[in-house]
Amino acid sequence: MDGFGPSSYGDAFADVYDRWYGDLPGLADTLDGAERLAMSGPVLELACGTGRVALPLAARVGEVHALDSSQAMLDRLHAKAAGCNGTVVTHLGDMARFTLTDAPPFALVFVAFNSLFNLATAEAQSGCFQAVARHLAPGGRFAVECVVPGDPPPNRHDAIELHTLAANRVVLRVSRQDPSEQTLAGQHVEITEAGIRLRPWFLRYSTVEQLDAMATGAGLELAVRWADWSGRRFDADAVGHVSVYQLPPGTVR
Ligand SMILES: C[S@@+](CC[C@H](N)C(=O)[O-])C[C@H]1O[C@@H](n2cnc3c(N)ncnc32)[C@H](O)[C@@H]1O
Repeated sequence: MDGFGPSSYGDAFADVYDRWYGDLPGLADTLDGAERLAMSGPVLELACGTGRVALPLAARVGEVHALDSSQAMLDRLHAKAAGCNGTVVTHLGDMARFTLTDAPPFALVFVAFNSLFNLATAEAQSGCFQAVARHLAPGGRFAVECVVPGDPPPNRHDAIELHTLAANRVVLRVSRQDPSEQTLAGQHVEITEAGIRLRPWFLRYSTVEQLDAMATGAGLELAVRWADWSGRRFDADAVGHVSVYQLPPGTVR
C-alpha cells in the first residue's frame, strides 16, 4: 500500500484502539501462558500497542519490556501505566530489525494478536525471527500468536463491511485480499458530519509451515504449538495458534 510504513497502523489507530480492541477475549489465558513460558525470567513483548497485554503482565511479573514502532501507541501505554503495578520499559523500534542494547537477554519474547502479520513481507517477518534469536537467553522462547490463514479466494477479493453504525457516525471496513501475495490491505473509513477519517492497515499472513521455516532460518526450532494461549491442542480444525520456538539446547551464539 503506497505510503504505508511501520508506524502507519499505530499512528492511525492509537486513539480508538482501546475502545475497539481493549477487551478482546482470552486476555487471562494470554497472561497465564506468557507468565508460565517466562519462568520468572525477563520478558519482551513485540508490537505491544497500548499495553493491552504488557501492562497486566507487568503487574504479575514485575517488569516487562515492550517494543512498538508507533510513538502514539506507546504514549497511550504510558498514560495508562501511571495507575498500574509493575514496570513496562518501552522501546520505540521496528520489530523486523531491532537491537536493544540496554536490555537483558530474554527468557520470553512474544508477539500477540496476529501482530507479526503487521510486517508487510516474508523478508520482514524472517528479520523479526532473526532479531528475536539474537535477544534470547539460553533456553529462551519466542511465542507467536496468529490466525491460521483460511482458504484464500481464487482471485483478488474486495470487500466493504459495516464496522460501526451510530446516529452521528459510520465506520466502514474496506479491504482488498491478494491471495498470490498473501496480503490483506484495508482502511477503516470513519464518516462523521465533521468529515472523513482514514485509518489504513496492511497485513501479510503466513502459514504455520512458513513461520516454522522462518524460525529454522533464524536457528530456532518449534518447541510446541497450541491452538491458543490456554494450551488447547492444535489440530486441523484450529483457527489460530500459539507457536513456541526456542534455541536448540547447546546453541552457542
Ligand atoms: C493490532 S495492534 C496489536 C497490539 C498488541 N499486540 C495487542 O495485542 O493489543 C498492532 C501493533 O503492531 C504495531 N506495529 C506495526 N508494525 C510494527 C513494526 N514494524 N514494529 C513494531 N511494531 C509494529 C502497531 O503500532 C500496533 O501497536
